[in-house]
Amino acid sequence: MGDPHPKLHATQLTRTFGRPPHQVDALGPLELTVAPGEFVCLVGPSGCGKSTLLRIAAGLLRPTTGTLEIRTSLPPDTRLRRAARPAAMIFQDYGIYNWKSVRANVRFGLDIQRVPRRTANARADEWLTRMGLADFAHAYPATLSGGMRQRVAIARALAVEPELLLMDEPFAALDAQLRTILQDELLDLTQTLHTTTLFITHSLEEALVLGDRVLVMSARPGRIIAERRPPFPRPRTGDIRDTPEFTALKGELWELLRKEAVPA
Ligand SMILES: Nc1ncnc2c1ncn2[C@@H]1O[C@H](COP(=O)(O)OP(=O)(O)OP(=O)(O)O)[C@@H](O)[C@H]1O
Ligand SMILES: [Mg+2]
Repeated sequence: MGDPHPKLHATQLTRTFGRPPHQVDALGPLELTVAPGEFVCLVGPSGCGKSTLLRIAAGLLRPTTGTLEIRTSLPPDTRLRRAARPAAMIFQDYGIYNWKSVRANVRFGLDIQRVPRRTANARADEWLTRMGLADFAHAYPATLSGGMRQRVAIARALAVEPELLLMDEPFAALDAQLRTILQDELLDLTQTLHTTTLFITHSLEEALVLGDRVLVMSARPGRIIAERRPPFPRPRTGDIRDTPEFTALKGELWELLRKEAVPA
């Protein structure tokens, strides 16, 4: 990481919803810097503003005050830059289109970028193979399992080669075994591609397995109140889950989080 420029930089970021007397202060003020290639996990109590932060980063929501900048390496003033989102987002509920085939779902972002159909199909198929879904290119999402649908969502997000990957509790709906498998797959993938990733989870274990840094947020309006760097060298594998360091760090994070989760 010789690059001094952060991929994402947020300063004095806040977001409120509604107007007084019904105003909800959802987020901040929050400072956040994510370096290129870094995998940052965010944990925090329900309703503290995690999804709000991610939606601001994805360009789906405006901040109330402050700024959030994403540094893109795309040249300015090109059609590609305007069509492309520097960030790709993956939601908890997959967010894939049931009326499109698996391949068309994966191709979706490429179609928006007007990538020629043949190139787009080839790239989609590459990702489907990587995600173990090659045989399902022409299937429809309704015929897939939850884990397979989530893989489609991951393939779709990564096919556009985003500069920033935003994941909002992507594995929350899955059973524990499948979740572990997808965590290990994501670990492998991001260590290969060095995709800058901002990942929200309620699972401390997930955060510790995946993250270069784990940030703990306060109760609403969410601010960052603690930061831990899991001391596990890369490339890592899921085996670190069984180490005493892992268990100790998980306990420490849980203590921090519990203070925020219990209403005063
Ligand atoms: N569009 C909206 N209009 C009004 N209030 C909203 C809106 N979106 C979020 N909020 C409020 O902002 C606060 C933060 O919501 P957000 O969804 O960001 O929390 P979260 O940390 O993602 O929670 P969870 O862990 O349960 O997903 C909540 O109080 C929520 O009710
Ligand atoms: Mg949320």
